[in-house]
Formats: sequence, C-alpha cells, structure tokens
Amino acid sequence: MSTTTATAADTTTTRYRPSQRILHWLMAIVIISALIIGLYCSYLSPGIPLRRALLDVHKSLGMTALILIAIRLPLRLSLGEPGYGQPLDTLNHYAARSAHILLYALMILMPIAGYTTSAAGGHDLPWFGLFQWPNLLPLDKALERTAAEIHEYGAYCLYVIVSVHILAALWHHFFRRDEVLKRML
Ligand code: HEM
Ligand code: HEM
Repeated sequence: MSTTTATAADTTTTRYRPSQRILHWLMAIVIISALIIGLYCSYLSPGIPLRRALLDVHKSLGMTALILIAIRLPLRLSLGEPGYGQPLDTLNHYAARSAHILLYALMILMPIAGYTTSAAGGHDLPWFGLFQWPNLLPLDKALERTAAEIHEYGAYCLYVIVSVHILAALWHHFFRRDEVLKRML
C-alpha cells in the first residue's frame, strides 16, 4: 500500500529523471573539485612539482566534465525538465532558467577552453595517469594565451554563478520550504 503511495510521490513529473540526477551530482562533484584545485594552482609558482601534479588531476577532472556534458546535454534536450507541483513566481522562474542556461554554457566552455590552452601550448593532456588524450591542435602560443584568458574569466563567472546556485537551492529548501531541492534528490 505504502509502496504505491511512495511511487506516486516519487512523481516523474516533479523530480528530474534518475539519469539526470546522477549526472547532476556527478558533475557537481567533478566541477567543484576542478574549481578548487584550479584556484589553488593559480597561487602556486609555475613549474613546481606540486603544481604540475595538481594540474594533471585538474585536467583529468576537466576532461571528465567534457565527456559527462556530452552525455548530459542531449539527455536534457530529449527528456526536458519536470513540472513544478507549485509553479515558481515569474521572477524566480526566469532567474533559475537564466542561471541554468549560463551553467550549461560554462560547463561546455570551460573544458573546451582548458583543453585548447593545454593542447595549443603543447602540454600534457593526461587522464588520471591512465592515458593521454589526443592533441588535436597545432602548437600556437597566441591561441594558448587567448584560451587561457577565456578559461580564467570563465572561472570567475563559475565561482559567482555556482555560489548563487547553491545558496538559492539552500534558500528554497530551508527558508521557502518548497520542492526545488527535492526535484534533484
Ligand atoms: C569544468 C571544467 C574546468 C573548470 C571548472 C576549470 C577551472 C579552472 C580554474 C578555476 C583555474 C584557475 C584559474 C585560471 O588560472 O584560469 C584553471 C586553470 C587551469 N586549467 Fe582548468 N578548468 C576546467 C577544465 C580544464 C581542462 C579540461 C583543462 C585541460 C585539459 C584545464 C587546464 C587548465 C590549466 C592548464 C590551468 C592553468 C592555467 C594557467 O595557469 O594559465 N582545465 N581551471
Ligand atoms: C552543492 C551543490 C549543488 C546543489 C545543492 C545544487 C542543486 C540543484 C537543484 C536543487 C537543482 C534543481 C533546480 C530546479 O529544478 O529549479 C539544480 C539544477 C541544476 N544544477 Fe545544480 N546544484 C549544485 C551544484 C551544481 C553545479 C556545481 C553545477 C554546474 C556547474 C550545477 C548545475 C545545475 C544545472 C545546469 C541545473 C539545471 C538542470 C536542468 O534543468 O537540466 N549544479 N541544482
């Protein structure tokens, strides 16, 4: 009896599909780790062994994000998003929609800019010490610098938008006590 109720409450209409939830949390862990390691590396002197080792982990996480977003985006476009039991007001709706579009854009831009920085600079493209990704670009120092700048400004945008995104999720859950966080759990 309760199983029926649980299944009904587990509404396919107000929660993201399991595949979408798994990808969201997997990517959240990967991207937040990449952000923290990238930020830390930017304070270390270029060339020291610790920075090189951490950047290898950073690049591996970043390339993982690139693979995951290539799976996630088509899934999102085909599955769409669940409806709300209680629709958000117009301001909240558009704020959330814009933040999500920006997050998707940055999840595509950041790994591509990171890859371009490393590939055009002729640097390593490791994946957790298991193999090297193919370098598809010719050596091009100007392209390396431009991509590094895009990567850096993209990182500033991500710090802000991810922080606002997390605070908004917590605000919905603890202050408004609505369903927003549960849609992703
Ligand atoms: C979601 C994916 C990624 C995020 C969120 C991210 C974030 C960051 C952050 C916050 C920094 C420090 C700020 C800066 O100096 O630019 C950084 C630096 C760096 N990232 Fe990424 N990154 C990602 C993917 C990648 C990928 C895929 C690669 C290469 C395969 C890469 C290579 C680098 C390199 C080489 C630096 C040092 C740049 C420099 O010192 O000029 N990143 N990244
Ligand atoms: C502790 C960290 C995080 C929490 C608590 C969280 C929470 C949530 C929640 C509750 C939703 C559903 C919002 C709604 O349906 O209106 C959501 C959606 C989303 N989150 Fe997060 N999130 C976190 C980290 C991240 C990170 C790091 C990223 C990417 C950089 C991200 C990207 C997204 C995107 C793009 C959506 C929209 C999903 C879609 O419509 O396909 N989230 N998040």
